[in-house]
Amino acid sequence: TITIDAITTHQTISGFGFSEAFQRAHALTNLPPPLQTQLLDLLFNTTTGAGFSILRIGLGSSPNSTLDHMNSPQPTADGPFAFDHNDSGQLWVARQAHERYNITTFYADAWSAPGYMKTNGRDDMGGWLCGVRGAGQDPSDTNNNCQGASWVQSYAEYLARYVLAYIDAGIPISYVGFLNEPNLVKPYATMLADGYQAADIIAALYVALGGIGLPHVGIACCEAQGWSYAREMLAELEDAGAVDGLSLMTTHAYKGEPAAPDGPLGVTSMPVWITENSPIMQRLGMTETWYGNGSENEGLAWAVNIHEAIVRGNVSAYVYWIGTSGGSATTGDGALPAYTIGATYWASAQFSRFIRPGAKRIGVGQDWMEGSVLVSAYENKDGSVVVQAVNNG
Ligand SMILES: *[C@@H]1O[C@H](CO)[C@@H](O)[C@H](O)[C@H]1NC(C)=O
Ligand SMILES: *[C@@H]1O[C@H](CO)[C@@H](O)[C@H](O)[C@H]1NC(C)=O
Ligand SMILES: *[C@@H]1O[C@H](CO)[C@@H](O)[C@H](O)[C@H]1NC(C)=O
Ligand SMILES: *[C@@H]1O[C@H](CO)[C@@H](O)[C@H](O)[C@H]1NC(C)=O
Ligand SMILES: *[C@@H]1O[C@H](CO)[C@@H](O)[C@H](O)[C@H]1NC(C)=O
Ligand SMILES: *[C@@H]1O[C@H](CO)[C@@H](O)[C@H](O)[C@H]1NC(C)=O
Repeated sequence: TITIDAITTHQTISGFGFSEAFQRAHALTNLPPPLQTQLLDLLFNTTTGAGFSILRIGLGSSPNSTLDHMNSPQPTADGPFAFDHNDSGQLWVARQAHERYNITTFYADAWSAPGYMKTNGRDDMGGWLCGVRGAGQDPSDTNNNCQGASWVQSYAEYLARYVLAYIDAGIPISYVGFLNEPNLVKPYATMLADGYQAADIIAALYVALGGIGLPHVGIACCEAQGWSYAREMLAELEDAGAVDGLSLMTTHAYKGEPAAPDGPLGVTSMPVWITENSPIMQRLGMTETWYGNGSENEGLAWAVNIHEAIVRGNVSAYVYWIGTSGGSATTGDGALPAYTIGATYWASAQFSRFIRPGAKRIGVGQDWMEGSVLVSAYENKDGSVVVQAVNNG
């Protein structure tokens, strides 16, 4: 018997979602319309699909759109800011989400500043934003690209203009972020930062958003790869007095789900979102298997991940990495290409379709950690009550 305790309320759920960054939006934009509709319905439709309600958009910083790069609207220091109304296919996806399915939660996140703003002179392979504490302020230091200049304000204005370009294109961006996994150096857009350096950017971004008429767009930080680094950065943000300027604490899972090893981020009253996770750590690829051996790409493992993140990690949103990927537009004989649906999709969909944005998690009169059925309960804004039970036996 599962007992629901609707008097006890926990966090409010913002929703569930995914991204089409890194050119992956083209997997949708290049398809023939009937197939586009099928896939969009699988993603966004609340009666026949997962009803995802959050789209994470990758704001570009790279010189061009090749491989996993997302092109910048201002790839050179002296060129104009020119939004291309494509954004590696992501504007099309955002428009479908908003215009067809009424999605209203859009999170725009930049992985890095453009190269000319950084110590290493390139947007990939790490490096720091010129002018954040400890990065490039010494004009006599010729070992970096900054030459003593600060690009903090310029980066903040760049981000604010990027958000404004989306808003002008009809997409109501709710949150903007300025980092992605700032503890990693990779051959795609990456920029290093600790919590103090992030605090320098938050202060400037807060002013820039207000200055361009977007004080309602919330700032999100810091997309750390792993819960433990997120906690470390949060402590530094608090020490630097930057938390008041923030609306969301964001983290990726990968190296540590929020549930372990650190427990809930009880030190903040800010909502915490997992803005990226997918089964890529074991390099297994996608599977349609719900349960075989318990590997991270299976559906059951994913359902347990989401359950634990919400119930133990107190997260308000769970955003999968890429929604659709791969594929060529047509097969050789002109027939529509086939697609397969990963088992992780069904796990995400089971939560997303029923727990709607604005739902409150409520109590269950049973310790979810005991036994083999993991239970959580929610009350939607329309008063409907949802009970999620994962049979982990
Ligand atoms: C695209 O940009 C990358 C740097 O991100 C550069 O190495 C490459 O040569 C550029 N490719 C083209 C076709 O311009
Ligand atoms: C976006 O640009 C790419 C590269 O030029 C192009 O292949 C694609 O069709 C464009 N997408 C849309 C939706 O216009
Ligand atoms: C989207 O919102 C409009 C206005 O509230 C409403 O008329 C329409 O039915 C909604 N569409 C969907 C798919 O929910
Ligand atoms: C969702 O799917 C149903 C059933 O196919 C369809 O009638 C409805 O139009 C779809 N919603 C949207 C917004 O496309
Ligand atoms: C859970 O998160 C909410 C914000 O979404 C916060 O107000 C609350 O204090 C958190 N609860 C715990 C136990 O950390
Ligand atoms: C476990 O099963 C998954 C599919 O369910 C598969 O991708 C993976 O390779 C398997 N791992 C081992 C060690 O057999």
